[in-house]
Amino acid sequence: MPILNFENRLFALETTHISYIFGLSEKGFLANIYWGKKIPHVEDFLENPCPFSVVNLSEPQILKEEFSAFGTMHFKETALKVTFSDQVRDFRYRLSECQVENERLELILQDEFYPFRIHLFYEVFPEADLIRRWSSAENTGSEPIVIERFCSAQFGLPGTGYTSLNYNGRWGAEFLEQSDPVTVGKKVHESLYGLTAHTANPVFLVHKNATETTGDVYYGALSYSGNFKVTVEAVNAGFTNILIGMNDTDFSWRLNAGETFTTPVVYAGYSDGGFEKMTHTLHSFALEQLIPRELADKPLPVLYNSWYSTTFSVRCSEQIELARRAAAMGVELFVVDDGWFIGRNDDTAGLGDWYVDPEKFPNGMNELIDEVHRLGMKFGLWIEPEMVNPKSRLFSKHPEWVLSYPNREILMGRNQYELDMANPEVVDYLIQVLDELLSENAIDYIKWDMNRYLSEAGSPTREPRQWKELHFRSTEGVYRLAEELKKRHPKVELEACASGGGRVDYGALERFDEYWPSDNTDPLDRLFIQEAYSYFYPVKYMRAWLTDDFGMNQRKLPLAFSMHSSMCGALGIGIDLNRASDEKLQEIAGYIADYKKIRNTVQFGDLYRLSSLKNAPLQAVQYVLDGQSALFLFLDHERFGETWHTVKLRGLKENAVYEYELEGKILRKTGAYLMQFGLALHMKGDYDSRLIIFTEKEA
Ligand code: GLA
Repeated sequence: MPILNFENRLFALETTHISYIFGLSEKGFLANIYWGKKIPHVEDFLENPCPFSVVNLSEPQILKEEFSAFGTMHFKETALKVTFSDQVRDFRYRLSECQVENERLELILQDEFYPFRIHLFYEVFPEADLIRRWSSAENTGSEPIVIERFCSAQFGLPGTGYTSLNYNGRWGAEFLEQSDPVTVGKKVHESLYGLTAHTANPVFLVHKNATETTGDVYYGALSYSGNFKVTVEAVNAGFTNILIGMNDTDFSWRLNAGETFTTPVVYAGYSDGGFEKMTHTLHSFALEQLIPRELADKPLPVLYNSWYSTTFSVRCSEQIELARRAAAMGVELFVVDDGWFIGRNDDTAGLGDWYVDPEKFPNGMNELIDEVHRLGMKFGLWIEPEMVNPKSRLFSKHPEWVLSYPNREILMGRNQYELDMANPEVVDYLIQVLDELLSENAIDYIKWDMNRYLSEAGSPTREPRQWKELHFRSTEGVYRLAEELKKRHPKVELEACASGGGRVDYGALERFDEYWPSDNTDPLDRLFIQEAYSYFYPVKYMRAWLTDDFGMNQRKLPLAFSMHSSMCGALGIGIDLNRASDEKLQEIAGYIADYKKIRNTVQFGDLYRLSSLKNAPLQAVQYVLDGQSALFLFLDHERFGETWHTVKLRGLKENAVYEYELEGKILRKTGAYLMQFGLALHMKGDYDSRLIIFTEKEA
C-alpha cells in the first residue's frame, strides 16, 4: 500500500525505496516525522508521532510542519498568508477529513471559525520513487477572502547546516551552479521576472556533503513557469524548513464565495545515492510520465536553424538553398527562425502579426515547406506569441491587450510589449491565429520564444484590485495556449525558449517537447551549462547546436570539440551554411551520422557525470542504454605535460564484454574492468575531445 493512514493521526507515504511519514502533533499541527530510506514497519512511529520539544518554545516553532500559515505563533517562513473579510490574518485549523483514493491522499484543514479550508494533496508514484504535492484553498462562506501567499508545499528536515544548490545565472550564462550552506537564516531562490527566467530555477536540492554517487539528497521541482520562490530556512529550533511555490511578491488573490484556488504541483524525492540517483529518478519519470505523450518515445530529429545564416533577412529562394545544403548533411528538421512574418525586418516591428510576409515568400510559405519535405526533412518556424511590437497591426487594433499601468510609460524590453495573457480574449485570438498558421502550412515544429520580462502588471481590461492576480493568470494563459495548440496539432514538436534558457522548468516540460537551454552556444561554456542543467532536466529536452563564433568569448575551438559538445544533447546545427566550405560540411555530415548511431542512448539513456571540468582536468559524460554506452571526453587544456587520463565508467554490466575503438585499435574488455580499473587514454593540447562507443558483445 503506498499510503497508510493510522486513525487520521499518522500517515505514511511509501514508494519502492522511500518512506515519507508525518502526523498530528499534540496540539493538532501536521508535522513531518521522517523522510528518507524506506522503513517498512511504520507502526514503530505510532506511540509518540511528534516527539519534539525545545525549551521555552511552543509547537509552531519547533515542528517540521507540512503546512503552516502566517500568525498563530509562527515566526518562520510559512506556506500561507490569508486575510479574512474582518481583517483577521491567521489560520487556525483542525484536520477535519482524510481521504485515500488509490495513490492519492487528501487532507482537509478546516479553519476553527471561518468558512475556509485548505486541502493538502499527496500523490505517490511507487515505482518512480517520487511524490507529487499541491494544495488548494476553498472559501465555503459568503464573504470574500484574500490570499497573499500560497506555496505548493512545505517540507521539513531534521537539523540545520544543509547545503542548498540552485543557480546564479543570467542571459547567456544559464545554470551557473551555486551551492551555499544554510546554517542560519534563509536562502531564497526566486524569480520576479514574470517567467522562470535565467537567474534561479524553481527547484530545491538540499544535502550534506553529498557527491555524485554518495550521500542523502532531498529535492523537488515545481511545475510552474511564472514567478516562483524557493526558501530554505535554518530554523533556530534545530530543523530546516523548505518552501516551494508561486512567489508572494506582488501576489494577492481574492477568493470569492464558493471559489477554490489551486497551486501548481511540486514533484519531490529523496536519494540515498547522491546526485546521480536523483538525476536518474527525475529523468526517467519525466520521460515516462510527464512529457507530452505524442512525441515522448521518439528521439528528437537533428535540426538545422537558419537564424545565424540569415538573421532577419529571410528570403524564400535563399532558405531553399540552405535547406538543400542542410539535407545533404543529414539534417532531419529545417527551421526558419525570426524574420518570416509581415513587417519583421529587424527587432523593432512585426511581433503580433503572425502572417507569412508576401515579399519574402511571394508564392506563400508552402513553396519552401514543400521543398523541405521533398528533401526528406521536417519543417519548423519561430514564433513569439506572448509579445507585440508597438509597430504592428495587432497593437494598432488592440492597444488595450498590452500589460500596462495608467500614467506610466510602458518600459520596453527588446522594443516590445507583453500581451496580457491573463485576458481570455487575447489567448483565444492567439489560438485562432496560430491554429490557422499550423493548419494552412504543413509545419512540424515550433520554436516558441519569449524575449522580455514582465514589468507593468496592470491591464486596462481588468479591475485594478485584480492586478496582483496577473502573474498567475498570465502563466495560466500561456499554458492554455500551449495545451490547445498541442491538442489540435499533437504531432507538432514544441520547443520552449525564452531568450535562451528562460523557460526551463517542469511546467514547460509537461507541455512542450524540448527546451532551448541557452543562447550561448560556445562549446566549452555549454559543457558547464549542460552539466548543471542535467541534474533536474532530461537530456532529450536539451537542444544543443553547433554555431559559428558568434562573438561570445572570442574563442576558437576545433570542430570535433564543438560537435562533441553538441552531441551530448539533442543535436542541432546553426552555422552559416552559405559561408562554410564543402569540406567542413562533409566533416559535419560525418558527425551527424555518428550522432544518429548513439542518439537513442544519449536522449533516452541513463546519464553519468563521471568527471567535471569544475574540479578535474577532464569532463567525462557517459550515457548507457541497453547494450550500448557512449562516452564523451573533453580536455580544455593540457596541464603540466600530463596527457594520460584514466576514467572509470559506470552503469555497465560487470560480467558483460564491451567492444570499443581506442586510438585506432578495436578492444574488448569486461564491464568490471572498465568500471573498476577504468579506461586509460591519451588526451593532449588545447580542446581535445573524444567520443567512444561501447557495444555489449556475446562473451
Ligand atoms: C532570441 C532567441 C534566439 C533567436 C532570436 C530571434 O534571442 O533566444 O535563439 O531566436 O530570439 O529574434
